[in-house]
Amino acid sequence: MKTNVNLQPFNSFGFNATAKYFVEINTIDDLRQLIKTPEFKAERHLILSGGNNVLFTNDCFDGIVILINNKGIEIVHEDEGDVIVRAQAGEDWPEFVRFCVGQGWHGVENLAHIPGKVGAAPVQNIGAYGMELKDSFFQCHALNLTTGETRIFTNEVCRFGYRESVFKHELKGQYLITSVDFLLHKQSELKLEYGNIKAYLEQNGMTQPTLQQLHDAICAIRDAKLPDVKQIGSAGSFFKNPVISAEQFNAIQQQYPDIPHYPDAEGMVKVPAGWLIEHSGPSAGSGFISWKGWRDEHVGVYEKQALVLVHYGGGKGQDIVNLSQRIQKSVAEKFGIKISPEVNCV
Ligand code: EPU
Repeated sequence: MKTNVNLQPFNSFGFNATAKYFVEINTIDDLRQLIKTPEFKAERHLILSGGNNVLFTNDCFDGIVILINNKGIEIVHEDEGDVIVRAQAGEDWPEFVRFCVGQGWHGVENLAHIPGKVGAAPVQNIGAYGMELKDSFFQCHALNLTTGETRIFTNEVCRFGYRESVFKHELKGQYLITSVDFLLHKQSELKLEYGNIKAYLEQNGMTQPTLQQLHDAICAIRDAKLPDVKQIGSAGSFFKNPVISAEQFNAIQQQYPDIPHYPDAEGMVKVPAGWLIEHSGPSAGSGFISWKGWRDEHVGVYEKQALVLVHYGGGKGQDIVNLSQRIQKSVAEKFGIKISPEVNCV
């Protein structure tokens, strides 16, 4: 176990924070050893996967940071139509998706290019372009951090929701996901309906795209909208898209007829937080300035996607916290809607 490790390389915002203890897990045995140590029993812990959805708000994490790095991809079942593929938690998510697409397996292609590792994907049920992890999630294996026992979690038990799972609530901090099994299909219809996927493909001469072409198109669409974390620190979407009542939505739509929206199964309406943020700003009224593209010294709102807060370097996690609170306040004042962070603030 290392001490006083700088976490800057391990969080995509690129903030400096020091971990009191830091341990890298390459095998399940490493993990079983770790949980028996006196340090583990005495200290709080943080499970770090790719560090793509975490904001360090303090200069020091006063506990143990556990970096998940176990690797391996294997087929556990295959028949004429389907395959169940097991990926260890430390596998890189975008590479795993690329691998599946390369094999001709359908089910995760719209989740291409989402930075992170496999083990973190179920925790917040990652989603993009009309697909969510839960659609292909078969089960996962997780280790109980108190008893060391492993347990299988089926799709149902995980209680997936929009960026939600049991691992963010009742079981928070209790289990560490060690591998995930995906049920993928050798043939399936491609999901092209979301946003500008179809338009992008048609513009590039692809009216009947292949699985690989769809994957590559999604990578290109994401690249055009979202910052490359190697250049600019960010954690992707900072907020979740809020879900509001139809009455509240209708009132807003009267004033803003172009507001994008997605009806919810329960008669509610999901509204893109990016749109709400773009239409709010640090200064309202006649001198209106939008948050989109707004920049303080070290942090700001990404110019191509207002849902993404960015760190240009030299700042602190607290700068992002302050900015996010200002944004929340102005969205609440203008639209009466509370937006909540998607990112895990520690
Ligand atoms: N919009 C604006 N202004 C903005 C951003 C968006 O008006 O600055 C509008 C867009 O024009 C569009 C709508 O809002 O009409 C939705 O935008 P987009 O398709 O970009 O998706 P999003 O709702 O902003 C969600 C996910 C993303 C995911 C995309 C694509 C959440 C919190 N975010 O964003 O996920 O890539 O859909 O499916 O649900 C992430 O979680 O880190 C992430 C990037």
